[in-house]
Amino acid sequence: MRGGDAVLPETSVVAECVEVERVFAKRVIEVLRGSGLLLPRSRAKSNRVRGTVRIPVAAGSAAAELLETLGIPSELCADTFEVGSRGLRLVDLLRGSLPDEALSRVPRSYQVVGNIALVHLPEDLLEHGPAIGEAIARVSAGVRAVYSSTSTEGEFRVRRLVRLWGEDATETVHTEHGVRIALDIGKVYFNPTLSYEHWRVSEEVVDGERVLDLFSGVGPFSLHIASKREATCFAVDSNPWAVVYMLRSIALNRLRGRIVPVLSSVEEFLEAVGEGSFTRAIVDLPHRSLEYVDSVLGKLVCGGVVHVYALGGEEPPTVAVGGARLVETRRVLDYAPRKYVYGLKLVRVCPEE
Ligand SMILES: C[S@@+](CC[C@H](N)C(=O)[O-])C[C@H]1O[C@@H](n2cnc3c(N)ncnc32)[C@H](O)[C@@H]1O
Repeated sequence: MRGGDAVLPETSVVAECVEVERVFAKRVIEVLRGSGLLLPRSRAKSNRVRGTVRIPVAAGSAAAELLETLGIPSELCADTFEVGSRGLRLVDLLRGSLPDEALSRVPRSYQVVGNIALVHLPEDLLEHGPAIGEAIARVSAGVRAVYSSTSTEGEFRVRRLVRLWGEDATETVHTEHGVRIALDIGKVYFNPTLSYEHWRVSEEVVDGERVLDLFSGVGPFSLHIASKREATCFAVDSNPWAVVYMLRSIALNRLRGRIVPVLSSVEEFLEAVGEGSFTRAIVDLPHRSLEYVDSVLGKLVCGGVVHVYALGGEEPPTVAVGGARLVETRRVLDYAPRKYVYGLKLVRVCPEE
């Protein structure tokens, strides 16, 4: 396993096996899996000198008999096999390596961004960080680093990170619905839980639209939209790193539309653009989005749509603006205990309509 010294016990079992010539190995594994005789999660061992593979099985003689009926020569054997951890729960892997009290507080979930896993560990669990990080890496495919992260903070909504396991590398490429998004989890905001929302909004857009993607971060809304529609998206963020990674993603994807990355505060940008210039806007700074709705509506054509992401409790936030009709309210994300991010969709209504 990559990432330095393992702190969890090695997982291996002694098991019966069938030894077959290498040319038959793939087929034998399929047949044994299909008949329930393959030992779950264990890894076959190949012997280069003999040109054979030892395949761990749950019942040796039944497996050998089955192979005989298929005309595949095999020999019964017994050996030690590595047992993989996929499909195991974190707590099962960690049991025995952590005190029970700490084990009971290990988070049940974590996020994977590209090939980096993020888990939120309380301060006093950090001493068990290496074991928890290694366990996460074992149960999730392709993870090369595991970090504990705080919730997002500061103007740029970036997380503070503590490396638990693996490479010291915070840059990655995350894929959402086929859209490739380059980012550095230590320098920009990104939340993989929003992938459905990015996709859902992009599905509403039609060719020819002009979209204002405010508080765009690394530009996932714009990347989803421009990857499927001939639309032009102005993606505005004040974090220079967000714009750097957005440019990289523009180069990584085959886009149908255009993205214009804008490094600016939203306030200054809104002052600079004309009224009625856009068909759609996205406002995604949940703790402050509602402050911008009024001026954003003015930038839309009549009938233009604005998707606002805003904080609420058990009840959604209320938007008190004239000149708009609220057409949809959905709960999008858990933010804190009994606090949620809501997605509100408003349509600009002009007096003559
Ligand atoms: C919640 S994140 C945006 C997430 C992004 N829309 C996505 O889906 O990943 C908010 C973003 O707003 C940016 N930001 C905060 N205040 C800003 C401001 N006044 N003007 C422009 N960008 C700002 C931050 O840098 C951050 O990238």
